[in-house]
Amino acid sequence: MSSTDGSGSTFFVTTPIYYVNDVPHVGHAYTTLNADAVARWHRLLGDEVLFLTGTDEHGLKVQRAADEAGLTALDHATATSDRFRSAWEMLNISNDDFIRTTEERHHLAVQALLSKAYDNGYIYADTYEGDYCVSCEAYYVEDDLVDGNCPIHKRPVEHMVEDNYFFKLSAFADQLTEWLEADAHSIRPTGYRNEALGIVRQGLDDVSISRTSISWGIPVPWDTDHVFYVWYDALINYATAAGYGADDADFDKWWPTTHHFLGKDILRFHGVYWPAMLLAAGITDLPELHVHGFLLIGGEKMSKSGGVTAIGPAEMVDEFGVDGFRYAMLRNHSFGPDSDFSYEAIVERFNSDLANTYGNLVSRVATVVGKKCGGIGPAPDPDATLATAARTAYAEAATAWEAVQPSVALDATWRLVREANEYLAENEPWKMEAGPEVDVVMGNALEAIRIATVMATPAMPEATEIAWKRIGMPGLAAEQRLPDAAVWGGYPGGVPVEVGDPIFPRFKPAS
Ligand code: MSP
Repeated sequence: MSSTDGSGSTFFVTTPIYYVNDVPHVGHAYTTLNADAVARWHRLLGDEVLFLTGTDEHGLKVQRAADEAGLTALDHATATSDRFRSAWEMLNISNDDFIRTTEERHHLAVQALLSKAYDNGYIYADTYEGDYCVSCEAYYVEDDLVDGNCPIHKRPVEHMVEDNYFFKLSAFADQLTEWLEADAHSIRPTGYRNEALGIVRQGLDDVSISRTSISWGIPVPWDTDHVFYVWYDALINYATAAGYGADDADFDKWWPTTHHFLGKDILRFHGVYWPAMLLAAGITDLPELHVHGFLLIGGEKMSKSGGVTAIGPAEMVDEFGVDGFRYAMLRNHSFGPDSDFSYEAIVERFNSDLANTYGNLVSRVATVVGKKCGGIGPAPDPDATLATAARTAYAEAATAWEAVQPSVALDATWRLVREANEYLAENEPWKMEAGPEVDVVMGNALEAIRIATVMATPAMPEATEIAWKRIGMPGLAAEQRLPDAAVWGGYPGGVPVEVGDPIFPRFKPAS
């Protein structure tokens, strides 16, 4: 699968495609940022990466939002899809593709994949009656409801009766169990794998996959009175972007290394229904899932439809800058459990890790090199004690990135930055006379900055390039290749070091 040794495998990473009935908020940004950071880490490893995000544009929920806005469904979808696209540009998200489910390429892939499942005997016609939550675009059985309301949105469900096509989910219980039990990487963290196993073990009913009551969707190719239910169209976006039905060589190249990032709210769809659909279509390579909890505000999931005011990413970028926000989001919330979103925690993180630690290290080193080394960065000492710190930091960070634990990876990286600051505090090069002794100290500090800077590019793509230039390194930090770039001794010495404005000026909240 993915490589840790820079041997250049492929790595296909996806976010959920976001509904266009809502505008982007920090909760959506959280998934996208984690996927982006992991995509960037894999590029550093030399992997060929395909990073996909996009928008989910069909279904009743979107149709209703468009009606309320007095727009056609497509015009409404286009306007909101553009808002997601620009939010991701603003956050410096490095996606290679942005898919909209209203695109022709997607219609073709959905029809191809579900026709395959139909031809294989896994889709049949029947009548469906049940309670439907429009916000989830999902049916619930009575046991799932809380006081008659949707368990997630806490809103009344709607009773619906429809002629539907059904997907024989029940036929896949054994294969799903085997996959989930045998493959520790099927769904991570493990708690979510157990949750999916629990769902399968409870028994799987066949699921309705088409609607006649709405027209805003992808027509069922063998019965055009029906459109596919939005979830069965949406999940297929991942296959569309990998080339399913359009370019077999592309699909075969990307599909075996698929990694889906998602919130726990959509685990059932991704961890049970989607793998079964793939198997029904004859695709036996199943994706790896990386599932995270909710960002909470006041104990509730941050969302617009849940009634809580969702925070827009632009407000955070105005306050903390793109990299300040990115770093704090990745570092403050461990990937997996629910986590409180807090403005104060971002301020604290920004000041402690960015202003006082990383930014301060870069400034201090540049100032001393200016004063004591004539502005030319000296080479590091091959046997420096900081070399051990760098080796440990890299090993721990690499393991954590591979396990999709960005918070742990950044913690390990910042230990190196902190040790470099302590090393300066112990040696006090600013008190030394210019000469070989101060050169060694500054060469070692510059080398620690170089290594930490490469390792921090997935979280802070802009600030790291500024630091990279300041210490006189040629090219781009993000173009370096790991693990080689983390080996002690790469700082060439003899290059100009620039003093500049603080990269992260200390944040003072407006009082
Ligand atoms: N359109 C479906 C997904 C289809 S994927 C084939 C959907 N869209 S959504 O717009 O509701 O986005 C859901 C995803 O957004 C969650 O799974 C999660 O990744 C992210 N989040 C939305 N709110 C969130 C929080 N408050 N906290 C963390 N993640 C959140 O479901």
